[in-house]
Amino acid sequence: MDKAAIERAKEHFGRLLEAQMKRMEQVKSAPDWIDYAKIKPIKIGVIGGDGIGPYIAREARRVLEFMLRDEVKSGKVVIADIEGLTIENRAACMKPIPDDVLAEIKKHHVTLKGPTTTPRKGDPWPNIESCNVAVRKELDLFANVRPVRVPQQGIDWIFFRENTEDVYALGPFGIEVDEDIAIDFRLISAPGADRICRLAFEHASKNGRSRVTCVTKANVVKTTDGRFLENFYRIAKEYPGIEADDWYIDIMTAKLVDEKRRRDFQVIVLPNLYGDILTDEAAEFQGGVGTAGSANIGKQYAMFEAIHGSAPRMVKEGRAQYADPASMIRAASMLLSHVGFPEKGKSLEMALDICGQYEKKLVVTGRPTGATGAAFTDYLMETLQSPNLKQRWESYLKG
Ligand code: IPM
Ligand code: MG
Repeated sequence: MDKAAIERAKEHFGRLLEAQMKRMEQVKSAPDWIDYAKIKPIKIGVIGGDGIGPYIAREARRVLEFMLRDEVKSGKVVIADIEGLTIENRAACMKPIPDDVLAEIKKHHVTLKGPTTTPRKGDPWPNIESCNVAVRKELDLFANVRPVRVPQQGIDWIFFRENTEDVYALGPFGIEVDEDIAIDFRLISAPGADRICRLAFEHASKNGRSRVTCVTKANVVKTTDGRFLENFYRIAKEYPGIEADDWYIDIMTAKLVDEKRRRDFQVIVLPNLYGDILTDEAAEFQGGVGTAGSANIGKQYAMFEAIHGSAPRMVKEGRAQYADPASMIRAASMLLSHVGFPEKGKSLEMALDICGQYEKKLVVTGRPTGATGAAFTDYLMETLQSPNLKQRWESYLKG
């Protein structure tokens, strides 16, 4: 037995614990929720990212500028590009976010971010931490909020995925103990579980939802999932009017395809990795990850993004202009609601539904067989200006 390897692993583990205990202090002493109504100007940064990112970000920014034209004029809102969050720059400095870019991101209250390339072991890029994950950790964006709606099938879900812990917290810091054994760590904290569960229940109570479902694998992953679940039921007691129940991730994955049962789910709260997987599955019912937006919410900052990757192959094959900007524009609609313009967010959502799901005068296929992202965005902006947008949306909804 290699005793020295065990000692090295223990020391490594000790250092990880020290860092996490410091993080706990920060989480517990973090300032409360920012109030956008009191802020002028609200600073919005747009990040292009990698691959198709800059192409779809350009379209999303165009929509955002249109929606906020009055607020930009009055000085309530400022919209700016944040450059440099590219895989080339990240590889050059061997960091998931170059320091100058991170400083720039922190100067903005909220960011709208294009997809970024996430390297893995064996890729041509160095195996640095995912930039998405690093931004979430750096800005303490503890809630990943992902709505999925398919009105024709009665699906109206909203996922509250914990966003800073679980296997993601220590993802890049596993131990290669010796040539046989590799170990990664999974972390769930009480403050971390509490704040995501509370946000889910708050959402339910403010939006007339009657049920919150927690998803774990607490029968097997006893310590961490056990804690998450225990805290879920403790927070649930503060919301006696809302039904609280829990499912295991395996059967939950199956139930989402059960047409008779799935429409009963409403608000779903779950640890990070289960949330990552389940929200891709859920988005598929709505038309795929290309149709889903995602909000990364913290008390001070927020970042909005598509839930898909940077599709480098589309760029290599010269098809980037055919990439669908809908997911990023959906993220923009969540941004609008989050910073205090819920009506604008809702209009944008209705226009996206009309253009992408019902009317489909232009369809983006990702290839020259379909419309370009720019043409689709023109169509969307035309639809947004329609005087009877809401009636059109409601009539489609009724079928
Ligand atoms: C997501 C993505 C990221 C994640 C990747 C790119 C690291 O899949 O936002 O769901 O795993 O969180
Ligand atoms: Mg994912």
